[in-house]
Amino acid sequence: MFPSVRMRRLRAAAGLRSMVRETALRAEDLVLPLFVDERHDEARPIACLPGVEAHPLRSLPRLAKDLESEGVRSVMVFGIPRGKDAEGSGAWQEDGIAQSAVRAIKSSADLNVIADVCLCEYTDHGHCGIVRDGEVDNDLTLPRIAGTASSLAAAGADIVAPSGMMDGMVAAIRGSLDDEGHHMVPVMSYAVKYDSAFYGPFREAACSSPSFGDRSGYQMDVANRREAMREASLDIGEGADMVMVKPAMSSLDIISDCRGAFDVPIAAYQVSGEYAMVMSGAAAGLFDADRAMLESLTAIKRSGADIITSYYTRDLVAKL
Ligand code: PBG
Repeated sequence: MFPSVRMRRLRAAAGLRSMVRETALRAEDLVLPLFVDERHDEARPIACLPGVEAHPLRSLPRLAKDLESEGVRSVMVFGIPRGKDAEGSGAWQEDGIAQSAVRAIKSSADLNVIADVCLCEYTDHGHCGIVRDGEVDNDLTLPRIAGTASSLAAAGADIVAPSGMMDGMVAAIRGSLDDEGHHMVPVMSYAVKYDSAFYGPFREAACSSPSFGDRSGYQMDVANRREAMREASLDIGEGADMVMVKPAMSSLDIISDCRGAFDVPIAAYQVSGEYAMVMSGAAAGLFDADRAMLESLTAIKRSGADIITSYYTRDLVAKL
């Protein structure tokens, strides 16, 4: 007799299901983005990101200790400066908001601190680089982001994560880090960053919407899959230690392709709009927030991501 196939045998009891479960999220996989706002003295809720706050510098030591004791292992720092200018010069100051935030966190808690490296929060026009003749000039931008990365490493960042999608940014940053003695600071490149509507709430929070045009001249076209492989392999060739794909939920094919093609750790970013979408659905009573988040984040990991940045990290690690 042909044995009867019953897929349901291994689903019949919780103990069996957990025994055969292929993917499990760990606190070590998760990164919490932190907005640090130089303009205010008190933590302020971010209206478009339910449950997320922008923090003043002075509350970081306490916050970092709390996060550590709750089980959060890694944070990604975004600075919101008091002033902006055409060059984004606030990005590379030794006492800039992101540099100060990195120092405050590192000196009070044992967390992996990843510093996002981009100019868009610091430029008055909101673009990710230096604008010349109405365009972001790639090669004028490179030394600025390289200097920004080195200043964040000097402040104590454990990892630098360039997110500006400039060609050659990883090589420029690696060169600058090495010149400044930061040989051991890894680069996590946002190698595959799509020109996405889902960054809307982040730009609201960081006041970094471009004042003219959009980012389609440097971020990737959502329609392209093969191009993502070129982006990631170029960045790895330039010395990226890890590559990131974002947004995550609409790029599971790309995460899976990267996992198959490259042996570096693959990171994925569940971005602000993806988080807000799930949270708004839950607030509207469509589904349970925890279940929906666990499902989305498990799917991101199942597709091949080793590391996941999510605004839900703090909530989730408390439940793991
Ligand atoms: C900076 C940066 C952005 C995000 C991460 N780094 C904004 C953008 O490209 O406009 C988006 C993160 C999110 O939406 O959660 N360049």
